[in-house]
Amino acid sequence: MKIAVLTGSPQKFGSSNMLAEQFIKGAREVGNTVSVIDAAQANVHPCTGCVRCGYGGPCAQKDEMGSESGTEHGIKAEIIGADMIVFVTPLYYFGMSAQLKNVIDRFCAFNGEIQRKHMKSALISVAWNAAEWTFDALEAHYKTLVRYLNFVDMGMILGRGCGTPEMTARSEYLAEAYKLGKSLKNK
Ligand SMILES: Cc1cc2nc3c(=O)[nH]c(=O)nc-3n(C[C@H](O)[C@H](O)[C@H](O)COP(=O)(O)O)c2cc1C
Repeated sequence: MKIAVLTGSPQKFGSSNMLAEQFIKGAREVGNTVSVIDAAQANVHPCTGCVRCGYGGPCAQKDEMGSESGTEHGIKAEIIGADMIVFVTPLYYFGMSAQLKNVIDRFCAFNGEIQRKHMKSALISVAWNAAEWTFDALEAHYKTLVRYLNFVDMGMILGRGCGTPEMTARSEYLAEAYKLGKSLKNK
């Protein structure tokens, strides 16, 4: 299947991208096609809430989401064309990064298309904290998105105690992320 991995860390070689890399390796090994959308580097403006899209596009803004005169290209096309979307983010103040949320807010212009597709999804995140409750808020947010957008959740990798790439390299989460990717055979 086609998997769109949406990464939200400004640290290109940071911990969340380390886990994403392992996930991608596993997913490709079992025959999936994976594309990476770097939400932290993409030229995507925040949703202005003008709702000229009427929650069903095209968006009034012209940027890498791809909305010129309703043509289908850019990040929107990448997401709509995928069978699975993977959200990758460092934990920032117990939620997802603003960079990732920025792109998700722009789903507004193709909300219905996503909802009708019943895509698969997954969440990959890392945090400095290792307490059991570290990911409670992010997990609740992700599960709410799954429910609202009619996703089929394929799993969550929540890297506790992954505050630096060195800490993450020593963790069990790299192997977990790889395993999650590998599990997506014939799905
Ligand atoms: C702005 C900011 C907010 C953060 N908030 C949290 C937090 O709420 N809880 C936590 O455990 N770690 C927090 N961290 C630590 C990061 O989640 C952690 O360093 C992570 O490994 C960064 O991932 P990355 O290398 O993929 O960017 C924060 C870091 C930054 C820069």
